[in-house]
Amino acid sequence: MIPSILRSLVRPLALCAAFALAAPAFAQQAEEQPIPTHQSWSFAGPFGRYDTAQLQRGFKVYKEVCSNCHALGIPFRTLSQPGGPEFSKGQVEALAATYQIDDVNDKGEAIKRPGRPADTIPWIFANKAAAAAAFGKAPPNMNLLAKARSFSDGFPWFVVNLFTQYQEQGPDWIYAILNGYSKPEDRKWNLYFPGHAIAMPSPLDSLFDPKTGKALNAGFYTDGTPVTKEQVSKDVAAFLMWAAEPSLDARKRIGFRVMAFLIAFAFLAYFTKKKVWSDVHAHA
Ligand code: HEC
Repeated sequence: MIPSILRSLVRPLALCAAFALAAPAFAQQAEEQPIPTHQSWSFAGPFGRYDTAQLQRGFKVYKEVCSNCHALGIPFRTLSQPGGPEFSKGQVEALAATYQIDDVNDKGEAIKRPGRPADTIPWIFANKAAAAAAFGKAPPNMNLLAKARSFSDGFPWFVVNLFTQYQEQGPDWIYAILNGYSKPEDRKWNLYFPGHAIAMPSPLDSLFDPKTGKALNAGFYTDGTPVTKEQVSKDVAAFLMWAAEPSLDARKRIGFRVMAFLIAFAFLAYFTKKKVWSDVHAHA
């Protein structure tokens, strides 16, 4: 009896020992390139929703800073869809018209014309090669950036994350990168980027003094939101999350209904079973 209990303990004990031995190695790796911290997001969790005002501010940051290098790759009209930044149709038309779009006229000649809501927001670069030539590496297209990047929190957090439905790696990663330029003298050194050498010079330097972190234009936001590096990073990360997953809200609502149905169904099944078998017990 006792030996068999011991034997069954060997495997879990061996596993624990392996983790204990491996833990310092994980910790060392974490020191070199820390794991991004989890920020609080309005769209996290089963009841999460995008914050319209935040998405509008995030778009402003994208347009005035990130779009100087990164493509977004979504049509203008998406910006007026429900669940997004919800700009008015008029605002989107006016915005699109400020861009020049490549097109062909009736004679088949290449022309430029003002943008329309159905056009994709154009990229500043003609193509990837031109962008790569400018920075050594092409800035990745942003419409999937928030989904394409993920990181592992390491043991045991990845188990905890399963239960808390943690899905915000993308925005947490973007936030970490934007705030990872911790060497004022080297604006391509990033704490969170693998190897620390990133081809993107700190993009928020156009809004904040690299040494003091103070806003260069305190009136950057017009809705009264304080212009801090943390706020600006969060707003643009939230916007990019929406761009990568515009139907997140709807998906969560459906998921919640399915869960509610399953719970109700489980109760029904349980009481039906009880009722059906109650007679059987009585006559036994
Ligand atoms: C001056 C050009 C430039 C600007 C402005 C810029 N980026 Fe970048 N970005 C790049 C380049 C180039 C890369 C590729 C870096 C690399 O792989 O080393 C990059 C990479 C990134 C990455 C890392 C992608 C990955 O591999 O995980 C993130 C996140 C990012 N940019 C976010 C932003 C955000 C948000 C903004 C606006 C606030 C912005 N960028 C503005 C040029 C720029």
